[in-house]
Amino acid sequence: MQSLNEIRSAFLGYFEKNDHLIIPSAPLVPQNDPTLLFVNAGMVPFKNYFTGAETPPSPRAASSQKSVRAGGKHNDLDNVGYTARHHTFFEMLGNFSFGDYFKAGAIEHAWTLLTKEFKIPAEKLCVTVYHTDDEAAELWKKIAGLPDEKIIRIATNDNFWSMGDTGPCGPCSEIFYDHGPHIAGGPPGSPDEDGDRFVEIWNLVFMQFEQFADGTRRDLPKPQIDTGMGLERIAAVLQGVHDNYDIDLFRTLIAASKELVGGGSNGPSHRVIADHL
Ligand code: ALA
Repeated sequence: MQSLNEIRSAFLGYFEKNDHLIIPSAPLVPQNDPTLLFVNAGMVPFKNYFTGAETPPSPRAASSQKSVRAGGKHNDLDNVGYTARHHTFFEMLGNFSFGDYFKAGAIEHAWTLLTKEFKIPAEKLCVTVYHTDDEAAELWKKIAGLPDEKIIRIATNDNFWSMGDTGPCGPCSEIFYDHGPHIAGGPPGSPDEDGDRFVEIWNLVFMQFEQFADGTRRDLPKPQIDTGMGLERIAAVLQGVHDNYDIDLFRTLIAASKELVGGGSNGPSHRVIADHL
């Protein structure tokens, strides 16, 4: 079994091997960004590289960014303890292209890492694309050989990612892992998509616009790539468990909190304690 730490290293090692500069996680409190209380995604420290306000140290980068989603636009607080996959605090693995590769490169890297390096069977994976993004759908067919029914078109904001009310944004393509029919839930876009069976493991954002407070949107200087994969979610897949709270990181915390209160079920409270710790 690969530990969480080994999985993080494998992700960063893959991208380092493919000419990405590895950038350490930034602090949780954003530096120089008054629009956010906490960093909520891997791209936040790189916002000025996407908008063109600053020059990136390298056209390609990768990181494992500590992130909090407990308020604002991306808020998972009420789900914590009740689903297998949500946290207020987590690490987001990401690779970034600042005007270097675009959709084809992002899809190629994601597919190679998941199916060749991590050896996840292709038949366990399906993807979504923004409903008008024919280019991404074609690339998934060509690069990954996915059949049409595994390339699901979504018309909602689930497939149009933005950092917040303002900032870089663009259509996105999400990769889902099927934990199997013994878990309740349906594929993305179906009525029971919120179940835990099909879990979004990686989001590839095709950054193309900057959104402003007055509602206007401008093209970014160059199309760019921002991706985010939940470290705890991919660890669950690779450690052969369905629930993020059963991975190596959380198992000992939950065992300790159970011991302190003298047993009890594996209920939401222990997960909340482990998440907050
Ligand atoms: N920034 C994108 C996300 O958080 C990758 O899903």
